[in-house]
Amino acid sequence: MQQFYQKNDYYKVEGRKQTLKEEQLCSLLSSMSLKEKIGQLIQLSGDFFSTANLSIGPIKKLGISPEFVKLAGSTLNVVGFENIKRVQDKQMEVQPHHIPMLFMSDVIYGYKTIFPIPLGFSSSWNPDLVEKAFECAADEASASGVQVAFAPMIDVVRDARWGRVLESLGEDPFLTSIFAKSMVEGLQKNLPCKKGLVACFKHFAAYGAVEGGREYNSVDLSLSNLFQNYLPPYKAAVESGAKMAMTSLTTLNGVPSTADKWLLTDILRKKWGFNGVIISDYASIQEIIKHGFAEDNEDAAFKSLSAGVDIDMKSPVYASGLEKLITNRKLDIKKVDSAVFRVLRLKNDLGLFENPYFGASTTREKTSLLTPQKRELSRSLAEESMVLLKNENNALPLNNKEKMVLIGPYADNHALNGMWAIHSSKKDTISIHQGIKRFVADIPTEKGTDLRRDSKFLENLGFLSEQEIKNMVSSEEENRNNLMKAIKISQKADTIILALGEETYEAGEAGSKTKLELPKNQIHLIDELSKLRKKIILIIIAGRPLALENIIDKVDAILYCWFPGSEGGNAIANILFGFKNPSGRLTMSYPRVSAQEPLYYNHLSTGRPQNSSKGRFVSKYIDSPADPLYPFGYGLSYGFVNYTELKTDKYVFTKDSTINVTVKLKNNSDFDTTEVVQLYIHDKVAEVVQPVQRLIDFKKVKLKRGQELTIHFNISSSQLTFFDNRGNEKLEPGVFDIICGTNGKQLLTTTIRLK
Ligand code: NOJ
Repeated sequence: MQQFYQKNDYYKVEGRKQTLKEEQLCSLLSSMSLKEKIGQLIQLSGDFFSTANLSIGPIKKLGISPEFVKLAGSTLNVVGFENIKRVQDKQMEVQPHHIPMLFMSDVIYGYKTIFPIPLGFSSSWNPDLVEKAFECAADEASASGVQVAFAPMIDVVRDARWGRVLESLGEDPFLTSIFAKSMVEGLQKNLPCKKGLVACFKHFAAYGAVEGGREYNSVDLSLSNLFQNYLPPYKAAVESGAKMAMTSLTTLNGVPSTADKWLLTDILRKKWGFNGVIISDYASIQEIIKHGFAEDNEDAAFKSLSAGVDIDMKSPVYASGLEKLITNRKLDIKKVDSAVFRVLRLKNDLGLFENPYFGASTTREKTSLLTPQKRELSRSLAEESMVLLKNENNALPLNNKEKMVLIGPYADNHALNGMWAIHSSKKDTISIHQGIKRFVADIPTEKGTDLRRDSKFLENLGFLSEQEIKNMVSSEEENRNNLMKAIKISQKADTIILALGEETYEAGEAGSKTKLELPKNQIHLIDELSKLRKKIILIIIAGRPLALENIIDKVDAILYCWFPGSEGGNAIANILFGFKNPSGRLTMSYPRVSAQEPLYYNHLSTGRPQNSSKGRFVSKYIDSPADPLYPFGYGLSYGFVNYTELKTDKYVFTKDSTINVTVKLKNNSDFDTTEVVQLYIHDKVAEVVQPVQRLIDFKKVKLKRGQELTIHFNISSSQLTFFDNRGNEKLEPGVFDIICGTNGKQLLTTTIRLK
């Protein structure tokens, strides 16, 4: 490595322990050739640097010249100290100015230690714990040489059909903004000591609103909806100091986000003051040609760079288009220079000119991955993320004296990490069987049926080989036997713990689906077991809300566990056996049937709400109630907390004062518990019709058995603003309902008036 440092003039100027000064970066920039500059704006995947003969491999496929492979300024998803070192050394050797590369990766909810999926951790309503989880993920990934995480994903989602709901924080913009801050801060906290990661928030903007929940589909939103419900989390990420942003693969109101100057320059850079690096999503620059927004690579390069995209991820567009645009004077070189400068500045901020491997080392890799402390953190977050949906006759917690069996395709299965845990191994994940064995050493266990029995469906998921599918789908006879064995052991038991759910690849990118019910074979297993009239505890492993109306009456308890991560089995067992009291609350509304989607709590009032009168002409479905099966904010605990005396210290207030809200809680149960106290408003009359309810604050509090507690909130006028249809933030005097309580339905209401 020594020799490259010496070759690097800029490095020599300042000495090895110093980062470069701004004027040194400027002089580096001015000494670079146009090709070198363009190279800094190109990101290629690891296969470009791992094959000896590039010309017949990735180069041909992507259509990029070998020269630009040499000059590429960053790469994605190359991890592991040895790998990173090999690629970094080689690239620095061949590049004229020996500029270090940036290593970016999808560290979405953990690197080796996997946390529950983001939809799970928002259900914890515990941003502090999530911040710690991201700090821990950054510690692990930086030890393996990653410098930038393509996270947090903070797209608000109101439609459970969209597979990427798994990566989201759910349907609420306020809650997503709170978590955006905790994730950005967690990732970036230890950057100065090279144990953090640069946060690249995504996908700007409003990718979560794809029509029909269909992946990569168009997004069409009124400006008030966009500003009020979709943009706040990205703004929160900027305010929290995120150093990078990623565009979306979709169009927003007819314009591809990757080439939307209004979005990237006017809003993100100018209005919000973001001065970090903007990267496209995977090939999204080239895809603007397919969208019908650009004619060819040159046009696409012009439109994306002019709009504000600095780095072209995995497409040949900047490599093939920018040079001509500059030499033909169609694009001002200053635009390229600004983009390159931002990339160099990021490299310099990370100290890559002094140490191109950043925080990676074999020692750190050996000592910081999957440590007991990290596992403990993952377990705590998994426990806090799980939502108890039903608990008839206090079926849970279990008592060691009950005779139990464990049934289901997830009973003894380590695939609990979900689709985006791409750097982890399921052998490091605790299965439900392993977790439960700590309490019941010899619990009889049977699979009962497969996760899915439809090979075509599994093939459609696009990840599984023919052989893997064959192994997953048993023959008819085997399946019958599996069922018989499950019934046989269940007959001798008092309690059946039944673990069902979605296959890993059913949720995540490109995992959109129309049927949110459990598959037929799993429902058949529930039906057969329910005939035995035993207590059934249903555990669901899934990446999205499922439509459960058709099975809830057949089971006594339902614990919704998401893809719970490395410590999933232990966390589930701790809850089942009462060592932890479940406190998770839903951050998405659960439909009764799939066709209710999109479904969200903060919808606008209609002129004919369903509860206003009986009869035909109200806003409803004729074959199903319109309300959710389980609302936003819902979740049970062992025991019950009563809410009373919701009060404010005044009725009228002005825009410069605040209102104090109090509510009394009493834990009437025999359990110590944790409660998520939720505060909503409803603006009764406004220039733009407002949601029936909107979350503005919450508190997660512990209550000992029998304890009473008074909770205080302060409301200021800044929490009562809304956006009009030109995107302007407005504050209007008038009356607001203040709504507080739990479980979406048991809510207390009072009113205040802003003068
Ligand atoms: C495409 C996805 O949309 C994005 O979220 C991800 O970060 C990139 N691929 C890189 O893997």
